[in-house]
Amino acid sequence: MPVIAVVNRKGGSGKSTFAAHVAAWCALQGHKVMLGDVDRQQSSRNWLRRRHADLPHIAPWALDQKNMLRVPTGISHVVLDTPGGIHGFELARIVMFADAIVMPVCSSLFDRESAAACHAELMALPRIANGRCRLAVVGMRIDGRTRAAEVLRDWSAGLGIPFAGALRETQLYVRSLERGLTIFDLPPGQSQIDLAQWEPILDWMRPILQPAQAANDGDTDAVAATRIGNSRPDSLMPAQESLIHGSRLSVLSASRPAATQSNPGVPTLTRVAESLGVPRFLKR
Ligand SMILES: Nc1ncnc2c1ncn2[C@@H]1O[C@H](COP(=O)(O)OP(=O)(O)OP(=O)(O)O)[C@@H](O)[C@H]1O
Ligand SMILES: [Mg+2]
Repeated sequence: MPVIAVVNRKGGSGKSTFAAHVAAWCALQGHKVMLGDVDRQQSSRNWLRRRHADLPHIAPWALDQKNMLRVPTGISHVVLDTPGGIHGFELARIVMFADAIVMPVCSSLFDRESAAACHAELMALPRIANGRCRLAVVGMRIDGRTRAAEVLRDWSAGLGIPFAGALRETQLYVRSLERGLTIFDLPPGQSQIDLAQWEPILDWMRPILQPAQAANDGDTDAVAATRIGNSRPDSLMPAQESLIHGSRLSVLSASRPAATQSNPGVPTLTRVAESLGVPRFLKR
C-alpha cells in the first residue's frame, strides 16, 4: 500500500492543498485512496466533507469510539496531510509510516530556511538517509513572473533533494478547494496550465503510487520503488494498524498485545517506538 506524506514544518506552505490534490489524482486513477489528516486543524477532513458524492471517492480516516484513526478496509493508497511545526517523534513516526515524503515549499527566504531545517531533521532519520522513504520538494504558490521556481530548484539541488516541480499561485486552487474540488476535477479546459505543472510532479510520484504500471513502462526508478515496497517487514493491514489521534501509535488488532512501557527513556527510536507500542511494521 503506497503511503505518501506531505510534510513541512512551515505553516501555510500548501501541505493540505497538495495532499488533497494527490488524493484526488489517485481517486481519478481508480485507486481506493484515503486522505489521512494527522493535523489537528483537520483541514483535509473538512475539505472532504465539501466533496460531492458523485466525484471520485476519497475516504477519510474512520474514527472509532476510542478516538483512534483507522485505515478503512479495502484502501489501496494512503495520502497523509500533516500539521505545520511537526518535528521530533511525530515526524519520525510519519517517516516510519510513509514510502515518500513530499515537501511543498514556498520560495521566500524564510520558507526556504524553515524547510532546510525540516530537511536536516528528515535526513537524520535512517529511512530517509538510506532512501527507503523517498523525499522530494515541490515549489508552491510560485509567481511565474519571477525567478522563484529557479531559486527553489537551485536551493533543492544545493541540499541534494529532488525537485519534483512547481505549482503556480492561482485562485483556481483556492476556489476549487472551497467547492470540495481539485484542479483534477475541473474540466481540462479550465486548468491546462496547472495540469501541465502537475505532470513532472506526478512523474516523480508514479513509481511510488503505481509501481507495477511504471515497471511495465520500463522505468528503472519504478522497479526500485517496487522493490522497496515489497521489502516491508509487514504490509499495512487495513483495520489492524492505526495512528492514534494524539500522541502515540497503536495496534488495534486484538491478536497483538499492547506493548508494555519497557525501556523508558532509552534514547533510540526503536526503543522509543517499543515503549509506545508502535506496531511491528513501523519499526522497519
Ligand atoms: N497554488 C496556490 N495558489 C494559491 N493559493 C494557494 C496555493 N496553494 C495553497 N494556497 C493557499 O494557501 C493557503 C495555505 O495553504 P494550505 O492550507 O494548503 O497550507 P498548509 O501547509 O496545509 O497550512 P497549515 O500548516 O496551516 O496546515 C490556503 O489559503 C490555500 O488556499
Ligand atoms: Mg494544512
